[in-house]
Amino acid sequence: MNRRDFISWVGVGALASFLPVTIAACSSRRVIKDWQKVGSKANLDANKQLLQEGAAFGKVLLVQISNTDNPVAVDPTCPHAGCAVDWNSDRQKFVCPCHQSEFTADGQVTRAPARVPLTIYATKIEGDDIFVKSV
Ligand code: FES
Repeated sequence: MNRRDFISWVGVGALASFLPVTIAACSSRRVIKDWQKVGSKANLDANKQLLQEGAAFGKVLLVQISNTDNPVAVDPTCPHAGCAVDWNSDRQKFVCPCHQSEFTADGQVTRAPARVPLTIYATKIEGDDIFVKSV
């Protein structure tokens, strides 16, 4: 194998390995145009986090980080390869169990391999109901 063939072979291999990750990252982005009810404040207060799934909004992870602010809402689908992130209250970060990517409460990547932030949603509370929509 000459040098040109080797470089082409490596390039195709790299493309083949990154393509599924890229597709997973792009396909997980969901837009919620109108406010969607995703849970109740009573359930969130009991557990401090709540994973909800619905046809209209996909997966939404609600986390009550402080007692005064509205809950944080994210699409828990890790933009690296699609595993579901968890909220780690001790570290105050979202952590992916698959390859240990980490994200701040506002979704920014603080530890690779993920390179793209989590999708964050706006939240509002009306009575006992919690609503989310895209920001
Ligand atoms: S799927 Fe989350 S870090 Fe790889």
